[in-house]
Formats: sequence, structure tokens, C-alpha cells
Amino acid sequence: MPQLIAGNWKMHCLTADAIALAEAVAAGAAGITAELLVCPTALHVAAVAKALAGSPVAVGGQDCHQTPQGAHTGDIAAPMLRDAGASYVILGHSERRQNHDETDELIREKTIAAVEAGLTPIVCVGETLDQRTGGQETEVVGWQIAGSLPKPFAGVVAYEPVWAIGTGKTATEQDVATMHAFIREELVRQFGEDGHGIRILYGGSVKASNAAALLAVPHVGGALVGGASLKADEFLTIARAAR
Ligand code: G3P
Repeated sequence: MPQLIAGNWKMHCLTADAIALAEAVAAGAAGITAELLVCPTALHVAAVAKALAGSPVAVGGQDCHQTPQGAHTGDIAAPMLRDAGASYVILGHSERRQNHDETDELIREKTIAAVEAGLTPIVCVGETLDQRTGGQETEVVGWQIAGSLPKPFAGVVAYEPVWAIGTGKTATEQDVATMHAFIREELVRQFGEDGHGIRILYGGSVKASNAAALLAVPHVGGALVGGASLKADEFLTIARAAR
């Protein structure tokens, strides 16, 4: 399975910027063997999907509601993302866990809703700095996997240590190797043989200069890139470093 290089554009770009960024990524995608994905705000999914039509670059959302429709002012349903052209959705990002009090249970419900709508969920897990300094990183991530992933799980896991997000501090290759091996073990323990086939992305200050080393670590199935995905050249350089 090729690696998946996903850009999480977070709350960046106006419409014209999002389209220009998507077009620049598509223009440089030829010859890249990794799967490419960009995740703009929900507001821009349709325009970006249109700009990427016919290209190998997929589009994803950054969140969805746990029900397919209803009286939920301001929320976005998974079928709406699908309808707008998304094929993936990021769920349980630490910024949503922290800023919107999302629990493992809610993330599991959203994951089920995403799969029912035909989207591939990318479920994020990862420990905070306090949890890591307290030596609780595997315990926390193990609980997040157990609580956030429905059984069976038809999606992708992203390991994003919270202390490495947007901080410029990247986890070392050894940190990534240890945690990805642990996550693989947990997936196999919790999902049996299917656990071997679940992609595990690494996210947290991935950039052109560290991508090759991080993407070469065993059990790393790709990268979830934040800041560096807002520059098409750098995002494409990361993608070229993929296996
Ligand atoms: O989802 C990607 C992300 O949280 C990592 O962000 O800016 O550290 O690459 P960044």
C-alpha cells in the first residue's frame, strides 16, 4: 500500500487561496507514488474538489457531525462532505479534542457516521506534553484507540503527539518508531488480523527537511501535515519522500 500524504489546512485560506493551493498541488503530483489528500475547511471542500477533478489528489473534511442530518446549527454532516466531493474526513484532531471537548465516545460516533456516508475517517490520537513527561503516552494512546475506533474499523489512524503540533518540535525517529510499533500492536490486539492493514500516519511538525527520515520509520503509513501543507512546493517535497 502506498503511503498517504495528507495536508490539514486547518482554518487557513480564503476561497481563491484554497483553489490556487489545490491547483499547485495537482500540477506537481505527476510521478508521485504516494496517495495525496488535502483537507480544506468545510466551506472550501466543494471548490477544492472542483479544482482537483481529474487529478490524483483527493479531498477531505476536517470534522463532521455524528448524525447524518438534523437541527444542529453550525454543524456539517458527513453526507454533506461526501456530496461536496470529499472522500476522507479527519476526526478527533487534538485541536477538536481540546477546543471542543470532543470525547473518545463522540469521535467513535462521528467515525461511524463518516463510514456510513462513504468517507474514509482519519482518526487522530496522541498524548499531551504532560502525559508524555508523566510516562503515560502509551496508556493514553491505547485508551484513545479503544475508545475512538469502532469495530470493525475501515479507516486510518493518525498519531499526532500534541506537543509536536505546530511547535516545530518533531518527535524523534525513535519516539515515532516506539509509538507506531505500539499502535500497531494495539490495533492487532483490538482488531485481530485486520489491525495489520490499518494505515498509521504520523503528524506533528512534518516538513521537507524531516519527511524522508520520518516516513522511513517502520509502521509509518504516511504523514498528516499541517503548516507545511500550506506551501505547495514543500507539501510536494514531503510527498516525494514517501515510499
Ligand atoms: O493535523 C496536522 C497537524 O496537527 C500537524 O500540524 O503544523 O505541526 O504540521 P503541524
